[in-house]
Amino acid sequence: MHTIIAIDGPAASGKSSVARKLARTIGFSYVNSGSFYRTATWYMLVRGVDVQNAGAVATAVKAGQFRSGFENGESFFEVDGQRANITDDAVNRSVSAVARVPAVREVVNAHLHALAGVADSIVEGRDIGSAVFPETPYKFYIDASPEVRQQRRSAQGQADEVAARDKQDSSRATAPLTIPEGSTVVDSTHLSIDQVVDTIVSALENRGLSP
Ligand code: DC
Repeated sequence: MHTIIAIDGPAASGKSSVARKLARTIGFSYVNSGSFYRTATWYMLVRGVDVQNAGAVATAVKAGQFRSGFENGESFFEVDGQRANITDDAVNRSVSAVARVPAVREVVNAHLHALAGVADSIVEGRDIGSAVFPETPYKFYIDASPEVRQQRRSAQGQADEVAARDKQDSSRATAPLTIPEGSTVVDSTHLSIDQVVDTIVSALENRGLSP
């Protein structure tokens, strides 16, 4: 088992940018678990699966050939040999419905565990410190005000209703978004990406993990 650093937080909290930069800074690989759920969602949409029908989603996810790995230090996830358009507005709208289905979470988690067996990794998501790698001592939760998060997503040109998505992600039955026990909470509302990365690097050094 390699060293895993869990980074969780709500939509558009800046955690992807932070996780990617942190990974480069300390020489770890970067795993974006949200992109896995987005790939599964894209797969449902291209197959015309009703994403509100959990049974249909569960059946469809079992039919897909999902493959994961690392490329240039970052995870990739593909289905039936195809890479998804993961920032599509339709994916933004449907991903929470797909991610609440336990069969989908089982597929994604199996790939996350396989990747963790390959390289020291920063794994970013919603349930990484709470459910996927609860045993890691390195857990961070990145937050930001709802207003700033919506601004960040709109600035990326995406029609992503982050508050609605967070509500669904926090209230689902299986592995909801939560602040993991023992995690360090970093509020990024008034911080730059570099400042958040520096904060995390210092916290890791304090815990004996030196880049
Ligand atoms: O990080 P993101 O916004 O790309 O994640 C997209 C969605 O995937 C998010 O709204 C909920 C789901 N997700 C999840 O349920 N568990 C994770 N570990 C990561 C993402």
